[in-house]
Order: sequence, then structure tokens, then C-alpha cells
Amino acid sequence: MVPKSSSTRLPRARSKPLVSEKAERFTESVIRDMTRQAHLYGAINLAQGFPDFPAPAEIKRAAQQAIAADVNQYAITWGAKSLRQAIATKMKKWQGLEIDPEAEITVCCGSTEAMIASLLAITNAGDDIVIFEPFYENYGPDAILSDARPRFVTLHPPAEPAGEWRFDEQELRAAFGPRTKAIILNTPNNPTGKVFTRAELEFIRGLCLEFGALAITDEIYEHILYDGARHISIATLDGMRERTITINGMSKTYSVTGWRVGWAVASPALTNAIRKVHDFLTVGAPAPLQEAGATALSLPDSYYQELAAAYRARRDRLLPALQQAGFKTFVPRGAYYIMTDISSFGFPDDVSFAQHLVKDIGIASVPGSSFYSHPQLGARQVRFAFCKTDATLDEAARRLLQVRGR
Ligand SMILES: Cc1ncc(COP(=O)(O)O)c(C=O)c1O
Repeated sequence: MVPKSSSTRLPRARSKPLVSEKAERFTESVIRDMTRQAHLYGAINLAQGFPDFPAPAEIKRAAQQAIAADVNQYAITWGAKSLRQAIATKMKKWQGLEIDPEAEITVCCGSTEAMIASLLAITNAGDDIVIFEPFYENYGPDAILSDARPRFVTLHPPAEPAGEWRFDEQELRAAFGPRTKAIILNTPNNPTGKVFTRAELEFIRGLCLEFGALAITDEIYEHILYDGARHISIATLDGMRERTITINGMSKTYSVTGWRVGWAVASPALTNAIRKVHDFLTVGAPAPLQEAGATALSLPDSYYQELAAAYRARRDRLLPALQQAGFKTFVPRGAYYIMTDISSFGFPDDVSFAQHLVKDIGIASVPGSSFYSHPQLGARQVRFAFCKTDATLDEAARRLLQVRGR
């Protein structure tokens, strides 16, 4: 007898949603989608924050040497000893903080992983996480993935181009409550370029202490500062050392965004939980690149001075080009983005404007709505990254002159 084909014996498939409710609640990264669109239309990519110039030669050499020396297997899950030591030494030098590299550092696959690992390590379902908006777009999905409830607090744009983005103290206080587990800070800030002042950080400290909340601070632009702005780590404020998770990484300071090396620094109790989550998320960051990280973090002070000066020159190249093209610009004090107001062009919203820019003008930017909890909040804003060569920025300036209003 010929057996029936197996398909006829299969039970009817029961219909269930294929993907989780969590995954339904957020979209793909708009920033990374704009990079794909830049490829598609052959546009200049001023969307995603990665340099189009080479990383420092000594760091690349260190990575090559580590691979040649067969540092090619799993590193210790919470980070190569040499890199953790270099992180502790650098934090002592720049922040004056004594960090125990054996118990207080977790090296991750970029600060992106350090952030989600930290959130997963500290939150229970329904905990509130306070997030300033506009925010770096990962923080929204990070909160969803960790079952936390984001509570957004507006950073208000300045009336004058050279003014500061500010939060309203009453609005921030109102976002804190008994369920507040943590506030996410990002200073210097993407996308606004804001550098939080000591007085602002002290106000935030007061709320953290009053409500028993933690601060998770993303400081990956700590060395990219302009006009005398000073970076202050909230962990250095009295009472905050034990309740801060400080996140940083190699991507921006050493122009190696593709290496995926970042870290979280926190008290031993917090680190213990972060390390467990990190271990089961990714096991570890790339071993040879961690060795190169130890070389990078040991570069002399002049490296950081030159980095900031070079970015200042790039900022000052793109700013007038945007202004001349008709954008209202917000002058950044740190990081490498310029947030702009596009009202004068008369487009219905940021997305249609960004589409015009990428398709017709040949420049990829990021629509402002991707930095806000509600699209209409960013409907008049577009962000440009200036971590690019002079040649790229000059070509962008030339193309920007073709932007026309509707
Ligand atoms: C504020 C902020 N945090 C984190 C990241 C990603 O950092 P990493 O490459 O270390 O994952 C970015 C990248 O643009 C960023 O702007």
C-alpha cells in the first residue's frame, strides 16, 4: 500500500500571532533605515552617526596584532582584564572615580548592549523609567523589551539658535513616583547636543535620592565637547556613586562604531546582575577588539583634545551651510549632531521632508519624529550628523543649496 503523503496526515495548523506583542510595539530603527535609503539613492549619509574617515592607526594596529597573536577565542564574559583595567584607570583620571575592575565593570557588545543589559538587570514589569525626549531612539524599544513603562519628559528647544535645551523642573518631578526605577540620561546628548550642567544633574540627583531611583547615564560622547562645555558624570555627585550605571564605549571616541565594544560601570551588586544578563545575551564582546580597546583608552590627553577640535571644525562647517539653506539650527555643545527646525520649508512633516532630501537632494538625514514618543512632537525637526570628512560636508553643503520650500 502506498503511504499517504505526510502532508495529508498533518493536523490543521492553529492560528496564533507569529510575533510577540513587544516586537509589535516598536518599529525598525529609522536611523538605520535612513542609512539603507542613503545606499539605495546614492545619497550622502548624514543620518547615522558613524565617521566616514579612518580610525586611528595605532588602534587598528593593536587589533591586528591581537588577532595575529591569536586572541581569537571568547574573552572573559564580563570583559578582558586589560580593557577593564584601562577603563578603571581612565575613569580615575577623567572622572576621579575609583572603580574596581574586578567587580564593577561589564564589557558588552557596544553601549547598546550595555543599556539593554542594564535595564533587563534592574527592572520588573511595570517599573517606570524616566526618559528625556527627544531621545536616542534605542531607549524607547529598550524600555519595551525590558517590560518597563517609559515616562517621557520634554527637553524644550531654545528660542535662540545658541540657547540651551532645557527641562522644566516641575515636569521632571511630576514624572517621578513610587514606581520610578531609573532615569536614563544621555550627556552630551544625542540628538540635541545638550550638555547637562552641574545644577541640572544635582536636581536630578535630588529626585533619584527622594524616590529611590537609579540613574543610567549614557556618556559615549563625553570627549566631544564645544565652546568650553564640561562633561560631568552624575556618578561623581555625592550620593550617586552607588545608584548610577555609567555606560560608555569605544564607538564614538575612537571612531570604531563597527567594533561593538562598550561597557557598563556600576556598584558590585548592580554589576553582578548586569553581568548575568550580559552573559546570556551575548557571552562577550569581540576579544581582539577588547585588547585594542586597552590601547585606545591609554592614548595621551592630546588625542582627546584633537578629537574635540576636529569635531568643532566639522560642526562649524555644516552649521552655516544649513543656515544658508534655510534651516533654523540648534547649535550643539557636544556630540556630533545638529538638530534643525524645518518649519520654513513648508513641508507637511519631517518624514516627507527627509524623503525629499534623500531622493531629490541626495542627503540622508533623520526625521525628528524618530526621537519622540509621539511623531507630531518631532514633525518640525530633522537631525544631521557631521562625523564626516570635509569633502563629504562640502558636497553636502553644495547639495543643501538646492533644497526648496513647498
Ligand atoms: C546616545 C547614543 N548611545 C549609544 C549609541 C550606540 O553606541 P554603541 O555603538 O556603543 O552601541 C549611539 C549611537 O549613535 C548614541 O548616539
